[in-house]
Amino acid sequence: MRSMVVTAFGGPEVLRLEEGPGPALGPRSVRIEVHAAGVNFADSLLLRGRYQVRPRPPFVPGLEIAGVVQEVGAETRACRVGDRVLGVMRYGGYADEVVMPEENTYPLPPGMDFTTGAAFPVAYGTAHGALSWKAALATGETCLVLGAAGGVGLAGVEVAAAMGARVIAAAGSDEKLAICRAHGAVAGINYRTERVRGRLPELAPDGVDVVLDTVGGDAGDDALRRLAWDGRIVTVGFAAGRIPAFPANRLLLQNAAVHGLYWGEVAARDPGQVGDSLARLGQWYCDGQLRPRVAQVLPLGDAAHGIELLLSRAVSGKVVLDCRR
Ligand SMILES: NC(=O)c1ccc[n+]([C@@H]2O[C@H](COP(=O)([O-])OP(=O)(O)OC[C@H]3O[C@@H](n4cnc5c(N)ncnc54)[C@H](OP(=O)(O)O)[C@@H]3O)[C@@H](O)[C@H]2O)c1
Repeated sequence: MRSMVVTAFGGPEVLRLEEGPGPALGPRSVRIEVHAAGVNFADSLLLRGRYQVRPRPPFVPGLEIAGVVQEVGAETRACRVGDRVLGVMRYGGYADEVVMPEENTYPLPPGMDFTTGAAFPVAYGTAHGALSWKAALATGETCLVLGAAGGVGLAGVEVAAAMGARVIAAAGSDEKLAICRAHGAVAGINYRTERVRGRLPELAPDGVDVVLDTVGGDAGDDALRRLAWDGRIVTVGFAAGRIPAFPANRLLLQNAAVHGLYWGEVAARDPGQVGDSLARLGQWYCDGQLRPRVAQVLPLGDAAHGIELLLSRAVSGKVVLDCRR
């Protein structure tokens, strides 16, 4: 088994490619030949020991994989050898083989390749959880997505559009906004050249019904100021580095709500809820409503470069590791 191991807390440079025997199979676990693994911003936090989950080195990062079931434990129920699956885990995905609980695996949607599969569960699951479970986004509502060209952000643009919303994308370059438009946004705000709160009165005169916030910082603060009556903010991440504060008086004045979502923990506590969501998303994918954008595919051994690409804000969509290379 080959895996990318975090040897000490630090930046992407701490990752080392190591080879060794695969883990033992438990009775309710499955062994998966990993074809592809998704790279997430959260991996960079995990490497530094700054994520909600804090394994001690040595450990293998990676929250999501796509591959083929090779072996099943004696007490597994549904998985069969040869099944093409997605896997969601707290960490451990940067490897060419994983052993994981059967309950955290899900069928790869029909027609979806492994690369797309590895880009799918965290980004689309988080976006759908935020917009559906938390915000109850309704057809015809206006949805502002902050960090709209990122993994979760671009998935949020597509999911909000699939739910019938009018989507405004906010991202850090005009090129990124063009990609957001191609994935369903009807308007864009480049928050490197203008303030979100300065532009929103023109784009959404009655305010924004729902905000999907993956960046925080100034954009997160601004979104709160332009919420519609009964507006909902779902806060999922702080890629910009500053956690926004939400003054309670503003929430009161707009009859508004702020929701937090920790999708990875939902996936661990309630795999069935996530399974229902991924099944819905898989159907939308099959119907052609979702078109996951994989910006770059790198060999497993180049995982550090994949994380650097995210940290340098160079990517629109997802980076995926090819774990057979
Ligand atoms: N709560 C949950 O369950 C959950 C689940 C998944 C992800 N997350 C969180 O959601 C956020 C996005 O995750 P992701 O995997 O979608 O990340 P990603 O693909 O790297 O996207 C992050 C986006 O944030 C923007 N950004 C703004 N300031 C940045 C900075 N200083 N450094 C890097 N990016 C910056 C970038 O776009 P611009 O250049 O256009 O600004 C980038 O597209 C992260 O904070 C992650 O931890 C939370």
